[in-house]
Amino acid sequence: MFVSINELDRHVEKAVTVRGWVRHHRKSGKIQFIVMRDGTGVAQIVMARNDVDEAVFEAAKTLTQESSISVTGTVQQNPRNNKCEIVASTLEIIHISEPFPITPKEHGTEFLMDNRHLWFRSQRQWAILRIRHRLAKAIRDFFDDRGYTNIDSPILTPTAAEGTSTLFAVDYFGEQAFLSQSGQLYLEPAVAAFGKVYCFGPTFRAEKSKTRRHLTEFWMVEPEIAFAHLSDIMDLAQEFIHYLISQVIEHNTPELEILERDIDTLKQSLQPFIRMTYSEAVAQLHALGSDIEWGSDFGGDDETLLTQQYDQPIIVHRFPKEFKAFYMEPDPEDPRLVLGMDVLAPEGYGEVIGGGERASSIDFLLDQIKKHELSEEPYSWYLDVRRYGSFPHAGFGLGLERAVAWICKLPHVRETIPYPRMLYRLKP
Ligand code: 4AD
Ligand code: MG
Repeated sequence: MFVSINELDRHVEKAVTVRGWVRHHRKSGKIQFIVMRDGTGVAQIVMARNDVDEAVFEAAKTLTQESSISVTGTVQQNPRNNKCEIVASTLEIIHISEPFPITPKEHGTEFLMDNRHLWFRSQRQWAILRIRHRLAKAIRDFFDDRGYTNIDSPILTPTAAEGTSTLFAVDYFGEQAFLSQSGQLYLEPAVAAFGKVYCFGPTFRAEKSKTRRHLTEFWMVEPEIAFAHLSDIMDLAQEFIHYLISQVIEHNTPELEILERDIDTLKQSLQPFIRMTYSEAVAQLHALGSDIEWGSDFGGDDETLLTQQYDQPIIVHRFPKEFKAFYMEPDPEDPRLVLGMDVLAPEGYGEVIGGGERASSIDFLLDQIKKHELSEEPYSWYLDVRRYGSFPHAGFGLGLERAVAWICKLPHVRETIPYPRMLYRLKP
């Protein structure tokens, strides 16, 4: 019977067949130990000369790292570590691997990135991408279970959503189009039809910055809610992140252990988040020695400094309107500010969520479109949301890769996506 390695414990003392790839191979005259993986886990195969045909024993000696094999044997619980192993009765070699480029020794990052298609066979990368998968599922479950309708936003778009400096232009039958920077503008009309919506898909930013937080292609989930205000989405962002962390802890503790992620530290983020205004954050940064000027956006260093002061995420809200997107609702209490918010992850990770309340007045938006030097015509459909029963609404976007980097405690987002796209990387 074919079984997967993560199910071996259900077949103790029974005969099974597993298929996969060789990770390590240790051999002596009488016995061979093969550590193999099959995508669900890793198991040791014990092959004694007396238990298998001589031809099989001899052939197994030629196994190289990453050779593909099928092994039949009896599942046994190793009393020393309680792990299941297979005492082989036979082994079939499917393919003898050529020398595998990635060996247990240290490799440089560029080399590993060039071999990304092979690198994710390694245990750390496997653990990260399994957690990414869990988060993607938890993201959908969270919104599906709360009555949101999934509205897919287009990837080819005629307009900018988040500033014109990070657009990827595409020739669209002789016209200029752009890869989507955010689905938000497409969700705002949809929210008038469905009440609560979300989109979740790839997003593109021609980011010229080479930082540990920036990809040119990343996945973003964006909820949008009719009649919601800034405080509602701050609450939602907290509940959402609590859910994501709980799901990873519940289902992926083995992966977190492979990554040596300290789970108690992660659990600190299940507390209520710290909330502060932008002005309060600037004052605190000054006290910590930063020279940030009121009115300018936080740099990565400012976010790192601020988030190191607390064990849980910080929600910063009410930003100066200068550096925020054109669609933000002004603060009725201070016209210099807009009702935006960012969630900054702890341990130095910084922004994982950006969002806010959307401007509901058409006159204000028309003025903003002018101030941001955008042309009005391509946004006319977007302005319709304010023409036909305008309503307060709010939403946010969470970058999946930044969430994975934080939850796995990785030094760089490049390991959080199967095939990263960055300033100097389009391959493999
Ligand atoms: O703050 P941003 O630009 O907000 C928006 O796009 C809004 N339209 C979202 C909304 O309100 N519906 O991006 C949101 C999040 C960031 O907080 C970050 O997590 C992620 O998207 N992000 C990136 N992740 C990786 N690489 C990049 N270059 C990113 N740019 C943004
Ligand atoms: Mg942002």
